[in-house]
Amino acid sequence: MKQKPIVIQGALQSEIDLLLEQVAPCGRREIGGFVFYEGTLDGYPVVISKTKMGEIAAAIATTLAIEHYDPAWILNQGTAGACTRALHVGDMVVGERVCYLAQYATLANRDTDALNPWKSDGYRSLDGEYISMSTDARLLAFLRGVEQPLNGHVVFGTLGSGDVWTRDTAEVDANHARLGVLCESMECTGVYVAANSRGVPAVSVRVISNNELLGETYEPESAAVAQRYAVDLVVQWAERGEF
Ligand code: 5AD
Repeated sequence: MKQKPIVIQGALQSEIDLLLEQVAPCGRREIGGFVFYEGTLDGYPVVISKTKMGEIAAAIATTLAIEHYDPAWILNQGTAGACTRALHVGDMVVGERVCYLAQYATLANRDTDALNPWKSDGYRSLDGEYISMSTDARLLAFLRGVEQPLNGHVVFGTLGSGDVWTRDTAEVDANHARLGVLCESMECTGVYVAANSRGVPAVSVRVISNNELLGETYEPESAAVAQRYAVDLVVQWAERGEF
């Protein structure tokens, strides 16, 4: 039986560079302005997808990947900012859930700073729920079962995402307290919405590249940690090839 590929996504070139070095290339396709690199990793078929930055681009890239490659599952990886003082640059967060941070109404009060959404009256969609989605249970069971590298620097938990980079430390703290998010990035919700709507398992794994709470500034080189982690997961998946 033909093996279904794993689609490995990264938003920026610096988040897929290392993957492209490791993959034995078979082809490159451009679909609707999105680039897909086809190849194998440890003999297993993979497609490296550059999603570009942001939720909308990530949702489109995910839909295209599903339509054109029928993947076994989707591995979204990249960098993120920490929303807790317990995480440092270089730590990995594996998504159990994704929580959308960019859908809210601000308070209609001129005396408060309406530009600060953490002063709003809630993160809500119009039907009263903020968008929150779980990682596919079988995929999560696989991820929990694999040998974890990085000597204890991998945690499982909720990923925050939205087209926003929050720098106000009170707002970061509020996001963590209200929603339990461990980190913030800009693609996870788009990926989960697109993948869940087609019933394709997807997970996002993120390396902490900055921590506004601790004054740890953005380190682009941290992207290498997430890519190495992704390779590790795919190699362990290739040994079993099914859920
Ligand atoms: N907030 C939001 N996105 C972040 N990223 C890294 N750190 C953060 C942060 N603190 C990721 C996003 C996006 C790019 C800016 O890096 O996912 O792709």
